[in-house]
Order: sequence, then structure tokens, then C-alpha cells
Amino acid sequence: MFERLKKLKPYKTETTPCKIKLSSNEDPFELPLWLREKIATAIKKIPFQRYPDPTSTKLKKQLAKFYKVNPENIVLGNGSDELIHLLITIAGDYSRPVMYPIPTFPMYQVSADIVGRAKIEIPLDHNFQLKKDQIDKALDKNPSIAFFATPNNPTGNSLDRELILYTASKGVLTVVDEAYIHFSQREDFLNEALTKDNIIVLRTLSKIGLAGIRLGALIAKKEIAQEIDKARAPFNITYPTQVIGEIVLSQGIKEIEKHIKIIILERDKLIKKLSSFKKIKVYPSDANFFLIKVPNGNLLHKKLIEKGILVRNMSHLPNLENCLRVSIGKPEENSAFFRAFKQIIQELDWT
Ligand SMILES: Cc1ncc(COP(=O)(O)O)c(C=O)c1O
Repeated sequence: MFERLKKLKPYKTETTPCKIKLSSNEDPFELPLWLREKIATAIKKIPFQRYPDPTSTKLKKQLAKFYKVNPENIVLGNGSDELIHLLITIAGDYSRPVMYPIPTFPMYQVSADIVGRAKIEIPLDHNFQLKKDQIDKALDKNPSIAFFATPNNPTGNSLDRELILYTASKGVLTVVDEAYIHFSQREDFLNEALTKDNIIVLRTLSKIGLAGIRLGALIAKKEIAQEIDKARAPFNITYPTQVIGEIVLSQGIKEIEKHIKIIILERDKLIKKLSSFKKIKVYPSDANFFLIKVPNGNLLHKKLIEKGILVRNMSHLPNLENCLRVSIGKPEENSAFFRAFKQIIQELDWT
């Protein structure tokens, strides 16, 4: 009965308890106390015996203001994970494959496997960039939907804008996953999503302070968003999520913007410091994390855990041998990471 699931490789996350957690690309800063007190007061007033607003009207209004779109352009999800799964479930006929580059965020593969759709994985080049010949090869297999995370996870770089638009120009429903766009200086795809029938943008609040409430957004032309919204579970956004999201978006944006600025500064500082070690390759990043390649990824990962620091080990994945992904933490956490890292690589003679 569950044949497909027997072969399914589920999404894995790092759970080793560590004092410093730099493994999930979260915003490391807590919301300020004054904002949490406002949230607490509002939570107390929730009628928990009632279903929440199925259309999340107030929350959508705030989110639309934040993204500078109209509420009618938005479909909300329990995290963008849910929206990825929804799109893979509803887009095109199942005989046509789902296309995405590798390495990338694993949920595209996991969701395609859950519903049993064929996949086309486009290998990125040695700089983790898209290549036109690989895209052309994939397009020959007639995919109905393509996912491009840009900036890409776990590589940190932005993908070639022209090649993403080229894919869309061939009629494929093109989903641009902008989970990390707030940390990037590059142009986003909102304009395209609002004007073209086959370009959709995904956003999330998970990387900017609210991973715990699970809130993702799909942005598309009104007519497209309306169609997709029909397939959404009616009460997928819980009452607490609606209340918290609305408060933070209406009163806490300045705080979030402060976090983003610090994270970008800390990222650039840390990348510069790590780049001075000859045996360590640091990849450029437009995100709130970066990727490093070291002589022995498993060993460094283990030694960092011994020092109470958890980063994501990517060593087991194709094209990511000996790579670790490091999320940007608070300044003091980044300093602790750098101290531990330097000590370990000196001991191992990797400088
Ligand atoms: C590229 C990308 N898309 C989507 C997600 C999932 O975000 P959410 O927490 O909104 O489900 C992640 C999480 O790491 C991600 O890296």
C-alpha cells in the first residue's frame, strides 16, 4: 500500500543538541521583549475553540504591504514547504517531470517522490551555477514545473537570472524560491511573478525571525493565485500564526530589518576571515549562511560539535564532498565559531 514511501528518503535535519546552533539558517535573534509581550496579550484573547479565519484576511493584508503586492496575489502556506508540496501536487499532468538543479533545497525531491512524479535533476557547474546546455537537456524531457532556489540552499549563491527566465520562456511553470532574498542585493522576481502566467515566487518568514510560526507565501498573478488557493487546506494557517504574524508584520518590521543588516555584515566579515586559510575554500554567499569545503568535512563537523557548535554537514551529498554549511549567528556566536574553527584547523594542520 505504501510502496512509494518504502523508497522515500525523508528530509533530514541536524538535531544534535549544541550550545551554539548554526545549522538551520534561522534568524539567530529573538524578538524583543516589548513585541513578545504584545504577542502574549493577543494570544490570551484567541478563542481557541474556534476555527481560524480560512482566508487569513488581516495577516494577508500585512504581508501584502511587506512584500509590496496585493493580498489577491498571495497564497499562504504552513511554511513554504507546504506550498512546494502543493505546487508539485497540482501542477501539470503527472506524466511530466519536476525539474530542479542539484545541489539544492531537498524538499523539491522529497515532495516529488511522495507523489511519485518523475524528476529531472540539473547538475550545477563547479561554481554551483546553472548551465544552459543542462537546462536544454532537461527541457527536452518536457517538464511541467521547475524550481529554482535563488539564493540557492545549500550553496549560498544566486542562480543565473537569464537562465531562469529562459526556462519560463519555454512554457514551464517556473517557481522561484526566494527564501533568502532578504540577504541578497540582487533583483528579485516579484515583477515577473506579478505579470507572467507561469512565474511564481515563494517567500517565507522562517529566515527572518519567525521559523517557529510556520508561515510561507506564494506570490503570483491574481488569477493564478486564486486557482492555486482552491487546492489549499482550508485552515492551514493556525489562529496563533495569524495573530503573531499580523503583530510582527505591523509593528516589528524595523526589528527584522535590523537583524538582516547585522546578519549581512557578520556574513561578509566571517567569509573574509575564513578565506585567509589556504586549505579552506569559502564559497560566496547572498544568503544568511555560507558553504565551506575543507580537507575532511566529517572530521571538522565532529570536532565542532565537541566544542558545542553545530553546523550542517553536507559531506554525504553528491558534489558537496567535505562541505559544511554554516548559518550566521549572533556576533558572539560567530566569534565563538571562528575561534573554535581556527583552533581545530591549526591542530589538524589545515591552515
Ligand atoms: C530554499 C528554501 N526554500 C524553502 C525553505 C523552507 O522554508 P519554510 O520554513 O518556510 O518551510 C527552506 C528552508 O530551509 C529553503 O532553504
